[in-house]
Amino acid sequence: MSLIDKLDALAEKARAELPQAQNAEAVEAVRISLIGRQGMLPALMKEMGKVPKEDKPATGRKLNEVKNVVESLLNDALKRVATAAKQADAIDVTLPGRQRKIGLKHPITRVIDDIVTIFRRLGFVVADGPDLEDEFHNFDALNTPKDHPSRDIKDTFYLPDGRLLRTQTSPVQIRTMENEKPPIRIIAPGRCFRRDTPDATHSMNFHQIEGLYVDKNVSLADLKAVLLEFAHEMFGKDVGIRFRPHFFPFTEPSIEYDFTCVMCKGKGCSVCKGSGWLEISGAGIVDPAVFKNVGLDADEYSGYAFGMGIERIAMLRHKIGDIRYLYENDIRFLEQF
Ligand code: PHE
Repeated sequence: MSLIDKLDALAEKARAELPQAQNAEAVEAVRISLIGRQGMLPALMKEMGKVPKEDKPATGRKLNEVKNVVESLLNDALKRVATAAKQADAIDVTLPGRQRKIGLKHPITRVIDDIVTIFRRLGFVVADGPDLEDEFHNFDALNTPKDHPSRDIKDTFYLPDGRLLRTQTSPVQIRTMENEKPPIRIIAPGRCFRRDTPDATHSMNFHQIEGLYVDKNVSLADLKAVLLEFAHEMFGKDVGIRFRPHFFPFTEPSIEYDFTCVMCKGKGCSVCKGSGWLEISGAGIVDPAVFKNVGLDADEYSGYAFGMGIERIAMLRHKIGDIRYLYENDIRFLEQF
């Protein structure tokens, strides 16, 4: 077989194998076998010396021709496998879409949002304070005596540096009055912490919403009107309100307020223990001692303050029997809202 025939055979082999190669590795394997250093072409080039003189020009031309053929077949093959690889990664627009689950707001968050919406319509603005409080804002400025039981380490979480996890949202009253001049009309939702033993109605971590209104000539009647309006908006027009005398260090007079039982509409049931009323929280007229602590003139200004337990309202609204459901994050529970 002449060298020319052998070169033709090599070109033939390239034409047969390169279009069949399925990926870059296969192309490379063929390249190595044909023109790699140990491949066919270098071996044939060594035979050039043995070719008779008169055949040399034709053989040389054939050699170049075959080299070009192999190069161009290699290029084609590489381009082809590169395109195929790209298409394999491409998005298949004919596939059905993947459905994404839409998240829901936690019932606590929803109740806060709804309460805030109602009070904003009544002219209140949202105020905020830190979860990590100091004794001054959580107790002293709120006129709480040094020996008051709520300060006990059995009831309050203290940090080694003397700060504490706020036990109520009432310190936001102080922080607001320190920074703003009346008229003040704020609501402050937030987390609170107490060392309670968890049960169906107690959690060490719970939420309150604080309300504070400071202006001239503010009375208990104003407070009652605002809370009644809130009760109507939140639970319906047939819900009434009543005040009972109570004590808080930072209000005088202090009251606890009840709404008509939203379950039995006042007839008496197991939720209201037959009374027809539900305890909501505490409120009262801001004690002049508190005004003094924040540098406001108690002769010029008066105000009311109220608190509300968010969990209590969420549980009433959704008929939830145990506060712990709200914190277990069981998706089967949360999906219902
Ligand atoms: N901070 C009180 C509590 O946690 C509630 C309250 C708020 C009472 C505002 C009076 C005025 O029980």
